[in-house]
Amino acid sequence: MRILVIHGPNLNLLGTREPEVYGSVTLAEIDGALRSLGAELGAEVDAFQSNHEGAIIDAIHAARGRYDGILINPGAFTHYSLAIRDAVAAVGLPVVEVHLSNIYKREPFRHRSVIAPVAAGTIAGFGADSYRLGLRALVNLLQAGRS
Ligand code: DQA
Repeated sequence: MRILVIHGPNLNLLGTREPEVYGSVTLAEIDGALRSLGAELGAEVDAFQSNHEGAIIDAIHAARGRYDGILINPGAFTHYSLAIRDAVAAVGLPVVEVHLSNIYKREPFRHRSVIAPVAAGTIAGFGADSYRLGLRALVNLLQAGRS
């Protein structure tokens, strides 16, 4: 089983970016933890981060035929990128959306996700654990689809 993890804009700054909101864990630490958890669960995990909408769309397209599912934190694109939403819908791969912060507890502009309607599910508010919970959920979903 192969999983692609996609991190959107500004997530490369995790560790120093608004630690009171996003915690002090770095992106490299999150990716390392996901690779270890993936190995435990029988999934190979690759990770990709970009600050550019088009690069994220290209990565979603390229995942078709190479990955079984996508774990994505679209960052601020969550709230307005119809192009990323359309890419997710177009490739038809199972996608789990994750957020470090609880977007529903924050500013009103963060309450809406345009990705959520095309995602299998969303996990938000548990810091770096959101990613780990999301990976478990995605692996379970893929295993259920195979049985
Ligand atoms: C985020 C929440 C978004 O609103 C924000 O723009 C981010 C990070 C999160 O993980 O909590 O960049 O996706």
